Amino acid sequence: MKITFSDIKGDWRGALCLVVWQGEGLGATGRRLDALGDGQISRAIEASEFAAKKDATIEILAPRGLNADRLILAGGGKKDDLAIHDFETLGGAILGKLLTGREKSAVVVIEDLPGNGLDPAAAVAHLAAGAKLRHYRFRKYLTGDKGKPANLKTLSVQSPSTAAARAFRPLDKVVDGVNLARDLINEPANVLSPAEFAKRVRSLTKHGLSVQVLTEQQMEKLGMRALLAVGLGSANASRLVVMQWRGGRKGARPLAFVGKGVTFDTGGISLKKAPNMDHMKADMGGAACVAGLMSALAARKAKVNAVGVVGLVENMPDAAAQRPGDIVVSMSKQTVEVLNTDAEGRLVLADALWYTNDRFKPRLMIDLATLTGAIITALGHHHAGLFSNDDDLAAQLASAGLETGEKVWRLPLAREYDKLIDSKNADMKNIGGAAAGSITAAQFLQRFVGKTPWAHIDIAGTGFNSPQTAINRSWASGFGVRLLNALIARDYEG
Ligand code: BES
Ligand code: ZN
Ligand code: ZN
Repeated sequence: MKITFSDIKGDWRGALCLVVWQGEGLGATGRRLDALGDGQISRAIEASEFAAKKDATIEILAPRGLNADRLILAGGGKKDDLAIHDFETLGGAILGKLLTGREKSAVVVIEDLPGNGLDPAAAVAHLAAGAKLRHYRFRKYLTGDKGKPANLKTLSVQSPSTAAARAFRPLDKVVDGVNLARDLINEPANVLSPAEFAKRVRSLTKHGLSVQVLTEQQMEKLGMRALLAVGLGSANASRLVVMQWRGGRKGARPLAFVGKGVTFDTGGISLKKAPNMDHMKADMGGAACVAGLMSALAARKAKVNAVGVVGLVENMPDAAAQRPGDIVVSMSKQTVEVLNTDAEGRLVLADALWYTNDRFKPRLMIDLATLTGAIITALGHHHAGLFSNDDDLAAQLASAGLETGEKVWRLPLAREYDKLIDSKNADMKNIGGAAAGSITAAQFLQRFVGKTPWAHIDIAGTGFNSPQTAINRSWASGFGVRLLNALIARDYEG
């Protein structure tokens, strides 16, 4: 969908959507249209008791006095209560309504922008971003009518803000990053092998990212036996992909983002049960977000140095697969007793985190992973789990979460939990028992990050199969891209 911005123009065709603020009546444009149609709009508002509550809509077909086929009134809610993310959900709700029609083009008119400290250009740009996020569908494998793209091809956003187009430019790239992550997550595992994932990341060099792909032989040389052990049962070879973006000061230490990229998690020899096992095609959701984030940073030319590292493996049961009880030597030289082959994500991240820290000496490291079912038990689908060895970083992430609506909730790390993964036979075991499953997984990761400020975000509940929202109608949400982009933009750029 092509999105354009302009001031409010008079001649509307296709579908026209007018944002109405709660408690403020119609604005100048609304009053003008109402007069052209002999009060039809006021009567429709009255008849439907439309109160302009946030994201509520009503529709007037063939509005009198207008060239447009449909006039939609969209409630903006109480103008001065809105935060920037509310403009995204408003844009999403509007697009949802627009998608129900047959029009190829639509216009959204938004005037009397809030004066509560929000930048009006940013507000309009976020409305457009929300619309574009809502427009995303994964239709690749639908044939016939179901596979047809949406009718709506162009959206013209009209407002008094002259800077909206400029404000949208970087946001547009972030939305592309989110949609890239969604595409990767929605893609089935018979198509998206580690090698295919790596290939798709390679194509991001077009944005100015530098991409390096490590093969199993190269990882073997580096001693990444924990990561490689996970892929032993798979016919698809493992990969480690390194993405670099250098938009910051020369020589400044990079921010590092590390993703769990298990392209399919059967559990391995500790095989998962059949129900919902198909969900495990999304077990590369952390890696998908890292790819989406890195492509967004490069495409919007972020003033920061960043590196993204994703460990790509497939966890399958096979004669060559690792067994419960196996002991592996990680790149860090720490040994791990693998008591459950289904706790594989931490094995992948152990080597990916160690490698990233060792090679790049990053200013901070943040990993994203669909790591534990237990985080769904703890937090459901509305917050991701956050773990950190650094209070400032944790606070920055929490606040970026509130700004973007990609919320995180911090859980503790502590010596008592760390003891639960000590093993008699090796330096540690890869499971900690029934209690505090998400925390013991995070404790495991912490043993591979040294003293570097680090945060771990468990997105098992938020990355996919999460509730459908105004800005997401796809199974894969792309959770994490906007969160980390906001963290960088607010606290680390320039
Ligand atoms: N990929 C799963 C975690 C998961 C479960 C993500 C459900 C999304 C939805 C992970 O590899 C796993 O299987 N973890 C185990 C750990 C256990 C064996 C200690 C789990 O959560 O059951
Ligand atoms: Zn698993
Ligand atoms: Zn997994």
